[in-house]
Amino acid sequence: MSTASAGGVPVEVHNPNGALRVVVTKALPGDRWLKVLTAAGCRVEVSADPDTILSNAKIRALIGDKCNGVIGQLTEDWGAELFGALKAAGGRAYSNYAVGYNNVKVPEATNVGIPVGNTPGVLTETTAELALALTFAAARRVVEGDEFMRGGHYKGWLPTLFVGNLLQNKTVGIIGAGRIGTAYARMMVEGHKCDLVYYDPYPNQWLEDYVRDYGKLLASKGERAVTVRRCDTVEEVLRQADVVSLHCNLDDQTRHLINAERLNQMKPDAVLVNAARGPVIDEAALVAHLQANPNFRAGLDVFEDEPEMKPGLAQCKNAVIVPHIASATLWTRAGMATLAACNVAATLSGHPVWNKPDVLPFVDGPFEQIPKAAPSIVNAKELGLQMA
Ligand SMILES: NC(=O)c1ccc[n+]([C@@H]2O[C@H](COP(=O)([O-])OP(=O)(O)OC[C@H]3O[C@@H](n4cnc5c(N)ncnc54)[C@H](O)[C@@H]3O)[C@@H](O)[C@H]2O)c1
Repeated sequence: MSTASAGGVPVEVHNPNGALRVVVTKALPGDRWLKVLTAAGCRVEVSADPDTILSNAKIRALIGDKCNGVIGQLTEDWGAELFGALKAAGGRAYSNYAVGYNNVKVPEATNVGIPVGNTPGVLTETTAELALALTFAAARRVVEGDEFMRGGHYKGWLPTLFVGNLLQNKTVGIIGAGRIGTAYARMMVEGHKCDLVYYDPYPNQWLEDYVRDYGKLLASKGERAVTVRRCDTVEEVLRQADVVSLHCNLDDQTRHLINAERLNQMKPDAVLVNAARGPVIDEAALVAHLQANPNFRAGLDVFEDEPEMKPGLAQCKNAVIVPHIASATLWTRAGMATLAACNVAATLSGHPVWNKPDVLPFVDGPFEQIPKAAPSIVNAKELGLQMA
């Protein structure tokens, strides 16, 4: 590895003699992703710029006159400006380092013929586990208790100290029963015997069958059978659930899906968890709701104006807040890097799109057996790309 400057932005250079130039806008964990790109004949330039979030101007400078592919971040604004610059530099591939791609204006990439990759499948359990951690941290007031201990306020056990909510046998509500919503629902249903209500424009028959079968198993052991119901409206979920976890993607339909009116439909001591995207909640309305309802609790991984928080949120003791770390396990973050690299390398090599939900052959197993395919290209159909 050597260092250089790309249009004034410092970069780390790997495989300097590679014929194809790939820019990576942030250092990525693991080394499998780098092996994937170098094995595909890529010179890889990784930004070493100190800014946490790169401006479009810096990304344009990184792209420069010759750039065949980019791995970018969810904090970047990938639209006509950057895809235009990439196309003009000979670019033929882009991958987001994320499963969500609300930061990418996909039609703008399609307009200039650039495939857009994402990294589904390796974030599912990791993100669901963090949503679960937020659920119980909020319900059982873990952060308040931690601060109390560190502040030296503990004088001994008391019947009334930091009393929270029991979630066993309660009702869990999911908004968006896709990969992560399903994994979280299973953790709450199997682990804590919760009944499940969910809202999703599309029914999740697999999940419904699974919960019903699990209910039968419990009943056969003389335990209470858990139930499942798909609701016709978001409001129905909010009214019934003791804990609501958001797992929908962010788009025009889900922006401010949780607003003041809907918060008021929730139980006054409910727990609301968001490990999806910040703007799914009207955060100012949530702050007002938390202030007015001290027994209402929230667990938040994401924020409407990241990295900022709306005024007042930091002072709400009934909110547990963490800095967008839901996918932050080493296996997941290295796996995301491998999937993003495979998206770019396979596209540049003219390989087809994998088009299967199981992406583990890319991230686990021998390097030599990585499929010759791009794991996930979101505009594959629009571009008429060949499927594996
Ligand atoms: N906090 C994090 O670090 C982190 C990590 C991974 C994913 N995410 C977010 O989680 C989202 C879900 O990821 P996934 O892998 O489960 O995706 P997915 O596509 O499998 O699931 C999304 C689900 O939301 C549903 N949906 C769409 N519109 C809806 C609406 N109006 N109301 C309710 N549901 C709706 C879809 O039908 C789908 O079932 C991603 O889009 C991403 O934004 C966040």
